[in-house]
Amino acid sequence: MGKATQDLRKEHDSILHVLKILDKMMSTDKKEDIVKLKYYNELVYFLKIFADKCHHGKEEKYFFVELVNKGIPNDAGLIGSLLQEHSQSREYIALMGKSLESKDLIEFNTAATKYSNLLKSHIEKENNVLFAMADQLLDEESQDALFEKFEQHEESVIGHGVHEELHSMIHNWATEFEV
Ligand SMILES: [Fe+2]
Ligand SMILES: [Fe+2]
Repeated sequence: MGKATQDLRKEHDSILHVLKILDKMMSTDKKEDIVKLKYYNELVYFLKIFADKCHHGKEEKYFFVELVNKGIPNDAGLIGSLLQEHSQSREYIALMGKSLESKDLIEFNTAATKYSNLLKSHIEKENNVLFAMADQLLDEESQDALFEKFEQHEESVIGHGVHEELHSMIHNWATEFEV
């Protein structure tokens, strides 16, 4: 497996871990709503910065572009449907954020469940179909060049300080909700 696909796969693992925590947060009745609200706000922040800006950004700006250059069809094919799912996921995150502003946990659960289901199937598709294609189509040199761009992208949208902050947030949630 090339360096670029490996990097994206690792990010998928982090996102799946957070989705598991989110599912647990929504299903537990051991926490007060006010406590849940605090964690949901942090989680939406994580999804916006890490899952969307950082991860989807890497895919859209560099990875998909390179694969289309190598002959994978864009709009009509697999990449087109993946892009559509990215934009659908943004709409769900926006709904999650809005429901938190009005402290509406029922609405939050509806949007968050849709988001979680969408992202899980999206990640499965990328892991099993797209990355297998990528590993066939991209040689080591292209994988390394993409990985370089990923690093720069990550630095510009997240930076070291925020990266640490996100990691410690995941750690706190996992401890708090025993995931
Ligand atoms: Fe994606
Ligand atoms: Fe992805």
